[in-house]
Amino acid sequence: MERIKTGISGLDQMLGGGLPKNKHVAVSGSPGTGKSSFTFEFLYRGVQQGENGLYVSLEETEDDMKENMGSTFSGFTDLQQMFKSKKLQITKPDKLELEDTAELIEDQISDNDVKRVVIDSATMIRLSFEKELEYRQTLFEFFSLLRTLDCTVMMTLEASSPRKEQLTFDIEHFVMDGIINLYNQEQGDRRIRALEIFKMRGTDHSRDMVPFKVLPDGIKIYAGEKVF
Ligand SMILES: Nc1ncnc2c1ncn2[C@@H]1O[C@H](COP(=O)(O)OP(=O)(O)OP(=O)(O)O)[C@@H](O)[C@H]1O
Ligand SMILES: [Mg+2]
Repeated sequence: MERIKTGISGLDQMLGGGLPKNKHVAVSGSPGTGKSSFTFEFLYRGVQQGENGLYVSLEETEDDMKENMGSTFSGFTDLQQMFKSKKLQITKPDKLELEDTAELIEDQISDNDVKRVVIDSATMIRLSFEKELEYRQTLFEFFSLLRTLDCTVMMTLEASSPRKEQLTFDIEHFVMDGIINLYNQEQGDRRIRALEIFKMRGTDHSRDMVPFKVLPDGIKIYAGEKVF
């Protein structure tokens, strides 16, 4: 099985060498856990390795994303150059149509050699459907189509609960090949960021819950360390 290096510090080690290529991974967490930063860095590291990235932002506008990521990752000094050369693109579709989004991704893969795609977030897509069944069917079709394309996909997902014990599973968890959970763990009067690889089809991986930090030079995952 082919792997790609996520390039996120500590993550490839936890994945036994990297993410299985062309798989679909959900990055799930409650508000502010770092889903957008995490998936954005995945694309940034891809560009550094010669893999173009497309960030489909369904919540924040392109300008807001660029501003927020530029300030969160102030150490990514080549970011503006990546935007200018279109190796790293952020796009916010006008309408929340999954069919249009699929078409956009397809075009970008053939026209701009995109290899990594992020969809932020699935929860926005869910909200655009009135009927749950319709959403499930469309999402299923969407990922069946993505599966035929030569790209690795991360999709963010709003967690049903900030607490590990209370997480429930939904359609998104079943259609995705992998799930990475991000937490804002309460510890006394502060909160600590933590991460776990919950599932990853096709590879063995760490099952530890480990601390991580969002730093100007990128996310740092402390693989092998304990949260408490
Ligand atoms: N420069 C920075 N240094 C450290 N932490 C930062 C910095 N900039 C942002 N953060 C942290 O990152 C968090 C937001 O991260 P991000 O937007 O990736 O989370 P999210 O899970 O996508 O949030 P949302 O649910 O709102 O979409 C902020 O709440 C803040 O705690
Ligand atoms: Mg976000």
